[in-house]
Parts: sequence; structure tokens; C-alpha cells
Amino acid sequence: MLAMGTVPTTTAPAVNLAELEAQARSVLSQATYDYFAGGAEDEAALEGNRDAFRKWRFRFHVLAGAQGPDLSTDLLGQSVAMPVLLAPTATQRLAHPEGELGAARAAAAAGVVYCLSTLATTSLEDVAASSRGPRWFQLYMYQDRGITEDLVDRAMAAGYSAILLTVDAAVLGRRERDFRNAWTLPPELSYANLTGSLAKTANVATGSSALNQYFHQLETRLAWKDLEWLVGKSRVPVLVKGLVRGDDARRAVAQGARGVIVGNHGGRQLDYSIAALDALPEVVEAVGSDGLVLMDGGVRRGTDVLKALALGARSVLIGRPLLWALAVAGEAGVRRMLDQLREEIATSMILLGVSTLDQLTPDLLVRI
Ligand code: FNR
Ligand code: LAC
Repeated sequence: MLAMGTVPTTTAPAVNLAELEAQARSVLSQATYDYFAGGAEDEAALEGNRDAFRKWRFRFHVLAGAQGPDLSTDLLGQSVAMPVLLAPTATQRLAHPEGELGAARAAAAAGVVYCLSTLATTSLEDVAASSRGPRWFQLYMYQDRGITEDLVDRAMAAGYSAILLTVDAAVLGRRERDFRNAWTLPPELSYANLTGSLAKTANVATGSSALNQYFHQLETRLAWKDLEWLVGKSRVPVLVKGLVRGDDARRAVAQGARGVIVGNHGGRQLDYSIAALDALPEVVEAVGSDGLVLMDGGVRRGTDVLKALALGARSVLIGRPLLWALAVAGEAGVRRMLDQLREEIATSMILLGVSTLDQLTPDLLVRI
């Protein structure tokens, strides 16, 4: 019941992913909004990921009698309903109490893969128990190899069907927004896949972030031999997440990775990194048909997805919009966000004159 004189505030559902960010901002604390939204240093890599999409325009076909369209594709033998995955993002319960459980259920309902972060606030077993959809596990390598090994064993036992080794975060990028906010994990949350001191962040002085300190416990000298170790240990496909060069991608695949995720951690790691979309063609060319190439960073529109696919990605991952959607309305919010993206992709496919994703070829694009 509203008190007399109170004006009811109704927020109309966001009509696109960008609007979701503004809505999420109004319900999140400043520190959480900044942690999700921010990038490293000048945030040039963050902005660059978005700008890269604007440089490409469509040379669309007409009178193509396009059917459907059919948005389905195949990822490592798994059929998915559309070429979008939910990217691993840490601490989803910071966004909403439903956190990882809500996001994973929304992914399952939409028929897309949910990627769970090592630094989730819900354990990988609990996520597995509550969602029957396809799930991949993102791995951070700890200096303590026993801990890393345990995470891999548990992910395989719980039915995660691929492991993403994140390679662009040997140390954490300098996110100055988090320094200003003296970011720490709130006491009521923990990194639920870990125990003891690894499940929490330490207190920090103003001017620094507890996450940067936390990362000193990871393998700061991450090297090719670590990928070799993981490929040898894992019984499920390993993908290398966060690279931007053809030579690195070739080497990853030659060492047994089943594929790569082109990207720069959403501009949160090395600032002035090449935009994910700009790096994509080189990696696609280098990997050829020897591995799966995915990309992430700055994907906010159905047209962005189609551009990435036309440049050779099999599928894209979505990071921040998932957090915004979760913050606004939990599982239902993520479902809505994925529905909207699906509608945008379908509409643009028809207007582009294509019926299936394999008809997305580079000649449909021009760089301006
Ligand atoms: C991330 N990302 C990330 N990546 C990863 O491998 N493990 C992780 O735990 C996290 N955590 C994380 C937290 C937050 C708040 C953000 C925004 C991102 C990176 C993520 O998987 C993805 O690469 C980017 O988010 C993609 O860029 P967009 O879609 O956010 O522009
Ligand atoms: C981040 C880490 C946790 O980007 O991946 O915040």
C-alpha cells in the first residue's frame, strides 16, 4: 500500500541491453555498479570493444526469400538455440540474490550455454543441481596446484562439459574505480567454490582493491606448460579464454585446446588491448578448421552478434548485460534479456537476407 501522496514509480521494461545498464545502476550500490561496469586504467580497451562494432556496416541481400530464420548452432557437439553464451562473470550474487542459480536457469530455458566462474558466489555443485542446461566451467589457476586440480575434478564430476582456462588475468588489471571504492567482497558472500582464506577477500586500505590482492594467490607466471598440464588432466574439452593473436591461438590449438575465446576480459585487464572484434579475423584465419573460435567483449546488439559471426566466430559470449539483467529482475530479467537478443538477431537475419548462421560470411560486411 502506497502512503498518501507517494507517486508510484514504475520502470518500464528495458527495450534493449543498453537500457538495462541504466536500470541496474539505479538498484546497485556504487561500488558494485563500478566493479561490474569498469575497466582497467583509462578504460580505452573497454570503450574500444564497443567502438569496434560501429566500424562495420552491412551489405545486405534483398529478395533472398529468407526462411525461418534458424538461429541454432553447434558448440563442441552440443546443439544450442542461438549463438550466444553467458560469459563467466564472478560474484553474481552481488547483482541479485538469485545470482548464479538464476542466471544458469535462464540460460537453460533459452537453450544456451552457461559458463560458471571459478569466483562464483554459488558452488559449482549447487549450480549443477539446479539447472539441467549445458554448462561450462571457467578456471582460474591457483599457485596451489592441488586446489586447481580439485576444481577441475569437481567440475568434471558435476557435469560441466568444457573447461575455459582464462589466460588474460595472470595478475588483475588496475581498475581504478575499485581502488576508489576500496572494493572488497561483502562479508555475507564468499567465493563458494573455494574454502578457507581463498573463499574470502582480505580487508584493504582505501585506494586499493581486495581483488587485486586476492589474485596474488593465482598462478602469476601462467605459461604454456600450464595449458599442457590442464589438457593432459581434463577429460572434457579445454578452451583458452582471453587471447587476441593468431600465433597464440594456433599454439593453443596445437597444444590440444579445442578452441579459443578471442577477447580482452571486457577491457578489464591490459588497457589499450586491441578490441576483441578487431582481433577476431586474424585468429579465425590462424585456427582455420582446427578449433572452435568464439569471441566476447562489447556485444550488446543482435547486429553485433551477426557481425562477429560474419567475421568467423561460431558464437559470442555476453558479460555485463547478464549482470545488469540479473540486477534488475533476477532469473526473469536474464530470460527477458536473452529473449530480446534472440528477437534482435532473428529480425536482423531476415533483413540481411540470411536464413541460417552458416550463411553469415565476410562479404556481408564493409568496414567504414
Ligand atoms: C568478468 N569476466 C570474467 N572472466 C573470467 O574468465 N572469469 C571471471 O571470473 C570473470 N569475471 C568477470 C566479472 C565481471 C564483473 C565482468 C564484467 C567480467 C570477463 C567476462 O567473462 C567477459 O570476458 C567480458 O565480460 C566480456 O565483455 P562484455 O560482454 O562485458 O563487454
Ligand atoms: C574480474 C575477474 C574476477 O574481471 O575476472 O573481475
